[in-house]
Amino acid sequence: MYKIAVIPGDGTGPEVVNEGLKVLEQAGKVFGFKYETKFFDFSGQRYLKTGKLVDDSDVEELKKYNAIYLGAVGDPEVKPGIIETGVLLKLRFALDQYINLRPVKLYNSAYCPLKDKQPEDIDFVVVRENSEGLYKGMGEFKDKGTKEEIAIQISYNTRKGVERCIRYAFECARKRNKKKKLTLCGKTNVLTYAWDLWQRTFNEVAKEYPDVTTDYAHVDATTMWFVKNPEWFDVIVTDNLFGDIITDLGAMIQGGMGIAAGGNINPQGVSMFEPIGGSAPKYTGKNVINPLAAICACGMMLENLGEEKAAKAIEQAVIGIVSKDLKSLAAGKMGYSTSQIGDLVVKNLKG
Ligand code: IPM
Ligand code: MN
Repeated sequence: MYKIAVIPGDGTGPEVVNEGLKVLEQAGKVFGFKYETKFFDFSGQRYLKTGKLVDDSDVEELKKYNAIYLGAVGDPEVKPGIIETGVLLKLRFALDQYINLRPVKLYNSAYCPLKDKQPEDIDFVVVRENSEGLYKGMGEFKDKGTKEEIAIQISYNTRKGVERCIRYAFECARKRNKKKKLTLCGKTNVLTYAWDLWQRTFNEVAKEYPDVTTDYAHVDATTMWFVKNPEWFDVIVTDNLFGDIITDLGAMIQGGMGIAAGGNINPQGVSMFEPIGGSAPKYTGKNVINPLAAICACGMMLENLGEEKAAKAIEQAVIGIVSKDLKSLAAGKMGYSTSQIGDLVVKNLKG
């Protein structure tokens, strides 16, 4: 019996989570696993009503679950940064979800903005460090509000934090068993402290993985290769901010935010799965948002729980409808409503 904590969140989060839960229910029936869900109302609206974000007792409660399924957080009525740091980053950090795993996979070349790229050309995974770097929130103002003001934002990188992320990425390259290639994406030419540590750690860990080919690309060049030669990549490992940036580009070349899913993973603890696109406030309540990213996130959650067959079946069902049914992956242009797409995935889920 899996215990799954559900955080529908803000904006279109609840709508897409609803579709993901439909698919989860069907997967449970077809593959014979049992689960229970409990809903948590962490969101911008709750913050506006009660002033509450995620506190330490919430974190302790969530530690009792096998996985967390998250819709989206972020509300235009709340000042930017409050919900992001108080809910999403709080959960990532407090649950030590030190990996942000973001597969970039093109399912149908018709949805790819790049010319002449086929599904086999765009099939890689970004392993984003998820607990340190510039996201650590370290820094200070000096002489705030004056003409002499200085704002300092620190990128915090520990040997332990970097090493556990790099190890995870090597394991991922080995297990994926595609090109068995791991690319370190950084900025060794300018950020000479942080990326010196990353590069040294990468080189040392690489010695333990002689079967994995290694490579290095600066982050700016990486964005260029994503557009020009995405087929070069298999697994990419990078820090928190670079990973944030390149995975939005990754989402675009795989067909957009409507299909991009990710997992915040603590290999020894509770992991959290989410569509990476955000709360899309302007589409809220219209039944037009694409729920496939949330459905794919549900698939990633099942894989993480050990229900590999169910995860594969969800991916196959998604591939099926993406290659023949949908007109587009973009909100409002899919030729189907949000709930109809959930129903289609349910119908196509085969044991
Ligand atoms: C993401 C998002 C978050 C991030 C925001 C909402 C804090 O952009 O998950 O990629 O920057 O990590
Ligand atoms: Mn992002």
